[in-house]
Amino acid sequence: MYVCQFSAEVLHHLMYPQSSHAAYYVATQMALAHNGILRGLNSIYLQATHIPREDLDAIRDFLTYCQCWCESMHHHHDAEEKDFFPSIELISDVKGIMERNIEQHRAFTPGFDLFQEYSRTCLPRDYDGRKIRSLIEAFAEPLTQHLHDEIETLRGLDVYDSGRIRQAYQRLEKSLMATDNVRRTLSYK
Ligand SMILES: [Fe+2]
Repeated sequence: MYVCQFSAEVLHHLMYPQSSHAAYYVATQMALAHNGILRGLNSIYLQATHIPREDLDAIRDFLTYCQCWCESMHHHHDAEEKDFFPSIELISDVKGIMERNIEQHRAFTPGFDLFQEYSRTCLPRDYDGRKIRSLIEAFAEPLTQHLHDEIETLRGLDVYDSGRIRQAYQRLEKSLMATDNVRRTLSYK
């Protein structure tokens, strides 16, 4: 299984930087958020084949958990693209500075969408844990690559205005917190 998370060493390095520039604060906060995403995906992958086939309630709950994970992924990446990345482009005055990250969002989207579709539409009696695993394997690598690379992009912002970068991130946090209690797809089967 190749879905991974940030090592304690990387997180320590991020949390105790050489400089007080906001780029390091932002990179640290983002690494913690990405770690949460990766741990959630790991938990789905690890548990997928251990849900008892005869326990339809447990399967239904597990599929709901998968849907919640998918929605939090959408929530995170949509918010970045809508406001945060454009703000960084404005602050840096470098057109396309976040483009590689947006391209990486597109790279894992087809596989991610298939996983989300399965978690939404699968009937508990048809549940197949191996199918969940194979769907995850189809997008885990580009997703993991992206979640790591974005941190490096953010650390590299330490040459731009620290205060404005902090403000841009605070706006992102505020918009995420204002909208994170809304489930977009409730499907009880
Ligand atoms: Fe991110």
